[in-house]
Amino acid sequence: MMETPIEERERLRHIAFIMDGNGRWAKKRGLPREHGHRFGVKAFERIVEHCRDIGIETVTVYAFSTENWRRPQREVEAIMKLMDHYVAECERRMEKYDFRVRFLGDKSVFDAERKARMEHLETITQHRSRTLNIAFNYGGRDEIVHACNRLIAEGARKVTEESFSRALYTADSADPDLIIRTGGDLRISNFLLWQAAYAELYFTDVLWPDFGPTELDAAIEEFYTRKRRFGGV
Ligand code: IPE
Ligand code: IPE
Ligand code: MG
Repeated sequence: MMETPIEERERLRHIAFIMDGNGRWAKKRGLPREHGHRFGVKAFERIVEHCRDIGIETVTVYAFSTENWRRPQREVEAIMKLMDHYVAECERRMEKYDFRVRFLGDKSVFDAERKARMEHLETITQHRSRTLNIAFNYGGRDEIVHACNRLIAEGARKVTEESFSRALYTADSADPDLIIRTGGDLRISNFLLWQAAYAELYFTDVLWPDFGPTELDAAIEEFYTRKRRFGGV
């Protein structure tokens, strides 16, 4: 088998973000948690633009987990509203967001209208070369179980790593090279369990609404100091 050239293998193509710390950011300012999410969306838009400017091919963000339904109803509703608004904005300003948008997660729990709007955005952006994956009602375990059931339904008698990867929500994306978690906690919280196998992990205490291009550049600089061995020497 031909070895992939080192430069190609080590290039940063896919960054995934665990956008954590919105609630604490708001609390520090004496604001309700919902405001933190509002500023979190602004930070997200800034980061997506920066990723585009520096040529990142795939950006994945963890926006709402399968466990986040445990939060107070008011907060959950605020997050759903923000997502609806974001989807509408993407459609209204197609030229601004030059990414193919894909939603990762189980959409079947959403009402028909929200689900249709999400799918419509996926369809109208699908010709674009860069990808923005938005993990929304996403859980790594849910994804794995969902993939198993999909393969069973298709009548698979045997799976390979490749066929399994293709049954995941991320079927269209390569694995993340770098996973960044803001907010100071050192855990994965059910994010990209399968895909994170050889991702570089970067944790920062910066709360998500404060995370900007400068902080991202620092993470990328750190990424390029890492030696990725993929099990080799
Ligand atoms: C991350 O921020 C956003 C979501 C999980 C939707 P949090 O809301 O978890 O913020 P903290 O961790 O409570 O500060
Ligand atoms: C992870 O953050 C989920 C998202 C960023 C959407 P959480 O705030 O839900 O994670 P835990 O509860 O601290 O592990
Ligand atoms: Mg949190």
